[in-house]
Amino acid sequence: MAINIAILASGNGTNAENIIRYFREKDTARVALVLTNRQTAFVLERAARLGVPAFCFSKEEWADGRPVLDVLRAHDIGFVVLAGFLLRIPASLIQAYPHRMVNIHPALLPKFGGKGMYGDHVHRAVLAAGEVESGITIHYTDEHYDEGTVICQYRCPVLPGDTPETLAARVHQLEYAHYPQVVEQLVQGLS
Ligand code: GAR
Repeated sequence: MAINIAILASGNGTNAENIIRYFREKDTARVALVLTNRQTAFVLERAARLGVPAFCFSKEEWADGRPVLDVLRAHDIGFVVLAGFLLRIPASLIQAYPHRMVNIHPALLPKFGGKGMYGDHVHRAVLAAGEVESGITIHYTDEHYDEGTVICQYRCPVLPGDTPETLAARVHQLEYAHYPQVVEQLVQGLS
């Protein structure tokens, strides 16, 4: 039976859209829910356009965890995918989805992770440090920012003349190419 996936996203949602479209063609899983913490997040428009139910929770509701868990259960969610989600995940949610909740980070953790390290902040830090490569890290989620067991990493070069925007675009391409497939493998590995 297909597993229902929920995507948590705080912003633009290009990864969310890519994953939704990927699983439309599959019978292993489907994206059944999108959750966000920002009413203005563009991911809400993408979800509406793609016909995926979406909800926005306040910071307090996220910190509590129970209202979010109720919605996840009501939609029979078996796997949770963070894609540009910027709040810390409460313990109650982590415990409800052991090895069933993953995050993507736009750099090679443990470098350039932690609170405040998201999106272009990460790419600026990578360039400021003079790194010659960057990439993506897909990892299980725990209660700390960008920690949790690493599942896999993919690398790309940092090129002379790169700006945060050009590096972000290269890293996004890695995310689009790998994140849906990795999620699919993990979902297939669930008994
Ligand atoms: C992605 O690059 C993702 O790796 C990053 O936010 C971006 C969201 O882009 N996540 C983090 O930085 C988490 N620390 P999107 O909204 O276009 O998918």
